[in-house]
Amino acid sequence: MFSRAVLVAAMVVAGGSAVLADPPAMMMPPYMLRPAAPAGDRLKPGGDGKTLFEVHCGYCHLLGGMGTNLLTKQRMMMGETPDKGLLANRTDLTADYVKSVVRAGKGAMPAQTKVDVTDAELEAVSKYLGKAG
Ligand code: HEC
Repeated sequence: MFSRAVLVAAMVVAGGSAVLADPPAMMMPPYMLRPAAPAGDRLKPGGDGKTLFEVHCGYCHLLGGMGTNLLTKQRMMMGETPDKGLLANRTDLTADYVKSVVRAGKGAMPAQTKVDVTDAELEAVSKYLGKAG
């Protein structure tokens, strides 16, 4: 009953047309706006780690994602600033650590299979995130 009233109100506000059209991109949080996957062979080495991270990890690890939200809390409990909740801002991660978390999972993060992210993609992503070597 209430939700029907809200829908009717929304239709009135929207002039009765295109009520359910896509919301403007600027209203959507970054984790919903990750880029399209690069075209080409996913098994080929040498991909762009930043883009591959945003494509394959971004729905949890860009701003607003559940991984970011959880890690922000963890980092703040360790006395760090909230921006360290974004993996891209971390300087303490090693490439080997990133790879092992991705394949084994950790806490609330499910293990990512080679279908989710191929070894070649993970190599590029872990180089991008592994700023501590
Ligand atoms: C389904 C959501 C999800 C996806 C997809 C995901 N993660 Fe995570 N990730 C999390 C969550 C949640 C945590 C925090 C886990 C915890 O501590 O309980 C986390 C933690 C991590 C950590 C550990 C950080 C630390 O401080 O120890 C790394 C590294 C990481 N993720 C890398 C990645 C990479 C790289 C990808 C993409 C290949 C990825 N994750 C994909 C949800 C996700």
